[in-house]
Amino acid sequence: MQLLDGKIISAMIKDELKIEIEKRIAAGQKVPHLAAVLVGNNPASETYVFSKVKSCEEVGMDSTLIRLPDSATEAEVLSTVEKLNNDTAIDGFIVQLPLPAQISEKKVLKAINPDKDVDGFHEVNIGRLALGLPGFVPATPMGIIEMLKRANVETAGKHCVVLGRSHIVGMPISLLLMQNTNPGNCTVTICHSRTAGLETILQSADIIVAAIGKPRFVKANMVKQGAVVIDVGINRIADPSRKSGHRIVGDVDFDEVAPKCSFITPVPGGVGLMTIASLMLNTLKAVQINKY
Ligand code: GUN
Repeated sequence: MQLLDGKIISAMIKDELKIEIEKRIAAGQKVPHLAAVLVGNNPASETYVFSKVKSCEEVGMDSTLIRLPDSATEAEVLSTVEKLNNDTAIDGFIVQLPLPAQISEKKVLKAINPDKDVDGFHEVNIGRLALGLPGFVPATPMGIIEMLKRANVETAGKHCVVLGRSHIVGMPISLLLMQNTNPGNCTVTICHSRTAGLETILQSADIIVAAIGKPRFVKANMVKQGAVVIDVGINRIADPSRKSGHRIVGDVDFDEVAPKCSFITPVPGGVGLMTIASLMLNTLKAVQINKY
């Protein structure tokens, strides 16, 4: 079993980005600038957004965090998006999800200029992804592809089973893995809450991408010997032995499943770190596209 180590791979990407940004500065070009909009006080969202801002600093990018209260109206969020669309200092921005219930996620995502949409969630970018056209690819699936590429994992002709059909992970990773690219060229099966015979389907998978948000759902008996297992889950479970009272586990029962795998991503220290590195890569791409 080989660990697909998000710490090592994301550190490599960040080092490469740092060099690229130093080169831009030396050439008198603009320093990439990412903005993040955080509405409310969701603790998980706060953690994610703070990590994104910190990573910008690490690679030498500029960042701006815009906080709006939990009580913010849809009009206020849309007006913030519009300002960022028109602000030439900002190369790319994200609106952290989920949003409070009074705000339509659909409307907010649609309002983002697709050429500043470094999360790749705008319908234009999803359309570009589906057609294999250049655009922003959502950070988590992009991070998974980058991991597979850098670890030289063979994907062509493999049966990949994706657990989950979310717009953020399940749907875009399925599109990426079926494309005629490397990594890619998989035969993809997407499973979800209404899939019949899930265990049998999983047992036939050469590659599993688990993105359902169910702690340690994937067990050893569901996994074929030698499978590649990508665990996208970040689930908080109670753990009285910890000072914090909790710990983070994935959608895969790592201890049971790892001995059967050719490659597996740990949680924490796997895909999560790749998501942030990919967002930084997208922000560099944004400054190159927008040329302010
Ligand atoms: N919520 C969970 N993951 C993400 C992400 O990648 N981007 C944003 N904006 N919100 C999220």
